[in-house]
Amino acid sequence: MRIVTLEAEDDFDGWRDAVRGLVLDQVPPDQMVWQVGEDDPGELFAGEMPVVPVDRGAFSVPRGFIDLARSAILHADRQRFALLHTLLDRVLREPGLMEDQADPLVRKIEGMAKAVRRDIHKMRAFVRFREARDDGGTRYIAWFEPEHHIVRANAGFFVDRFATMRWSILTPELSIHWDGKRLTQGPGASKADAPEGDPVEVVWKTYYASIFNPARVKIGAMLKEMPRKYWKNMPETALVPELIAGAQAREQVMVATARAKTGDNVEAAWAALRDEAMHCRRCDLYKHATQTVFGEGPIDADLVFVGEQPGDQEDLAGKPFVGPAGQVFDRALAEAGIDRARVYVSNAVKHFKFELRGKRRIHSKPDAGEITACRWWIEQELALLKPRVTVALGATAARSLFGKTVTISRERGRPHDLPEIGEAWITVHPSFLLRLPDEEARHAEFAKFVHDLKAVANRLDR
Ligand code: URA
Repeated sequence: MRIVTLEAEDDFDGWRDAVRGLVLDQVPPDQMVWQVGEDDPGELFAGEMPVVPVDRGAFSVPRGFIDLARSAILHADRQRFALLHTLLDRVLREPGLMEDQADPLVRKIEGMAKAVRRDIHKMRAFVRFREARDDGGTRYIAWFEPEHHIVRANAGFFVDRFATMRWSILTPELSIHWDGKRLTQGPGASKADAPEGDPVEVVWKTYYASIFNPARVKIGAMLKEMPRKYWKNMPETALVPELIAGAQAREQVMVATARAKTGDNVEAAWAALRDEAMHCRRCDLYKHATQTVFGEGPIDADLVFVGEQPGDQEDLAGKPFVGPAGQVFDRALAEAGIDRARVYVSNAVKHFKFELRGKRRIHSKPDAGEITACRWWIEQELALLKPRVTVALGATAARSLFGKTVTISRERGRPHDLPEIGEAWITVHPSFLLRLPDEEARHAEFAKFVHDLKAVANRLDR
């Protein structure tokens, strides 16, 4: 018997590293004991050698397996690590196994992944915050009891929703805390540690208004997860009819969008969204910028480009990509045979961020909190436009669309499938070309940029 001790219940990376070593060493799954943290493996295995993962080589695994394992590993079943090891062992020997829905092991693990996804969604739907005060001021605290080990995997969702608030979510296994900039983790808690009283209405309004956005969560699925019998006990019940009405109205917009992509009310919904964005206070950038620079272009565009943030000239003009980077962009589009008048162009961050040097306003990169706070707008734009292809120009846009740091050189020039966005491509930002010191490099990089744009154009032609 060999023992692997993982660092935590959701330690996917630890499991992956260890299992890689085990596969390369051809250790049969039934020779393994998987444990987490300090657990005592029991006398049976006393004196066995622990497995130390080392990098001894590589083999490739179908993408579907990795995605499945990433979810299933969060399941509460203590056998999950071993089951996944067995499945991996078989996948490597039986090509096509992942597609075999009749296979009991594939079915079992898919069932586990599904239960995990349901639990993740439940946490999103049921967490309710109460207002409390600590040394730093107001903190919103919620209590939740998940069935599976999903809390860390779900943390990003809450950071995204409540980027500008200080909050904690307490669960029996661990607690997570957000201070507006950093996410930290603490020990598990009990229900008594969370404040009592009514959940915070205003927070709920924001939260529910966003979670009820049909672009993110289909309302039918949402209601299924919040059965009617619970409603009377839930403080947000009063909001539900209003939300349903709002969601239905929004759904009509979506239906219209889907129907013709030119439906009259899509235009109105887009205009309303843009007007709302003009008053955006989701982060502090509005304080120094001249105005919100919203996306621009035909709303039935098949192709959307997302930049970083408006620059000095865009901030003054109120239009995206009209300054020096915009000129490079226009030139590259023309070389790639893409008509700018037919594409929609927007930014991940809608206000100009800068530092004052004398009278000059020098561009300053938006930070992760600002990108997250602004993501709401680009998500809404994309949900309305439903383009066939969205292109992220540069790292900030890629981070906004993908929700994580992306290495452009590795991911550029090919399609990626994003759950709520659809087909997304990544390429460099035009201002990267402007910053290159020598002519030759600028020339070569420009050609690569045009090459990426041509690949997108070809994709749309197909
Ligand atoms: N850079 C961007 O990312 N967007 C603009 O609108 C202008 C420059």
